[in-house]
Amino acid sequence: MTILGIETSCDETSAAVVRDGEVLSNIIASQLFHEKYGGVVPELASRAHMKLIVQIVNEALDKAGIKKEELNGVAATHGPGLIGSILIGLNFGKAFAYGLGIPFVGVNHMEAHLFSNFLTTPENQPEFPFICLTVSGGHTQLIYVRKPFDYLMLGQTRDDAAGEAFDKVAKMLGIGYPGGPEIDRLARQGNPRYVKFPRPYLEEGSYDFSFSGLKTAVLYYLRDHGLLRDSRLDFPRGSTKVGHSELIGSLLADLCASFQVAVVDVLVEKTIRAAEQYKVKHIGVAGGVSANSELRRRMKEAGQKTGFRIHFPKMEYCTDNGAMIAYVGWLKLRAGVSPSPDEVTAVANLQLT
Ligand code: KG4
Ligand code: ZN
Repeated sequence: MTILGIETSCDETSAAVVRDGEVLSNIIASQLFHEKYGGVVPELASRAHMKLIVQIVNEALDKAGIKKEELNGVAATHGPGLIGSILIGLNFGKAFAYGLGIPFVGVNHMEAHLFSNFLTTPENQPEFPFICLTVSGGHTQLIYVRKPFDYLMLGQTRDDAAGEAFDKVAKMLGIGYPGGPEIDRLARQGNPRYVKFPRPYLEEGSYDFSFSGLKTAVLYYLRDHGLLRDSRLDFPRGSTKVGHSELIGSLLADLCASFQVAVVDVLVEKTIRAAEQYKVKHIGVAGGVSANSELRRRMKEAGQKTGFRIHFPKMEYCTDNGAMIAYVGWLKLRAGVSPSPDEVTAVANLQLT
């Protein structure tokens, strides 16, 4: 079964071809122009998807070496995400499938992240049941995955998502958007014990997350050390952020490392605890923040200590991509899940469970 997968839920326009679970192509166009606005501008994102979608789908088919007539189905993200962005990929996918007379399935973007750990050889895939920590720019979720389509949500963020906290702290530090990769890079030269930022574990036994207090702790640190001219977080761009020139060299690296380790400590502790409680053997980590080198290192270290087998997606499948959408589309079509009317509607806050 050969499936075309389309992803346009945020600022990546991506299309991929997956044949029986194996990725034949995965083309991703990142909309870098949002950087100058310090975050994704929804209207501009959907317009860019519109301009790019035909070319990206054609490239995905070419790279896979197949003609559109060889496709057996089309899958596209139908939520969660930015409504205007989702609509472009979803409507393109529906029309494309209709024109070819093949089935169309809508895919939940968070479910697709969860399966990005399956875009590898069978012996490297997680075994069911497993615990999945999905950490992206919009979500932070700890999930007990019994089997495909059968999930128990153990915890979610109560405020900012992990990736969002990375992005907002990066913005305060004046190091660009998206901030996650840049904090990751700078933190490698920094001292993670330079500042002891709070670890938000919440009430005992909770699998929920909260990162807004940590973000504020970074802000207060900057303010108290005279590194901010204004304590408002939502400042007009350029007016209050700390520039590289003010926060140079090792201090910037130390702050990045100290913030990053606080996030990673919480993510690792809760994930391992969930795996112990639910008695699984495998743990998967997914979403954009799963590209973080410190999270990868610490989860692997925890896996060696506890005996859990830890899975991370290949780097190209950590952030948004069409391959994970095509993969879940393939699972659904193979399982004979007939597309429901709900799947052909864009849902900005689509839930996993
Ligand atoms: O999954 P994703 O591509 O999009 C959403 O579904 O939200 O995740 C994007 C998020 C951004 O917040 C970005 O800063 C973060 O993933 N990210 C990272 C790293 N690479 C991407 N965060 C920390 N370290 C990284 N290396
Ligand atoms: Zn995503």
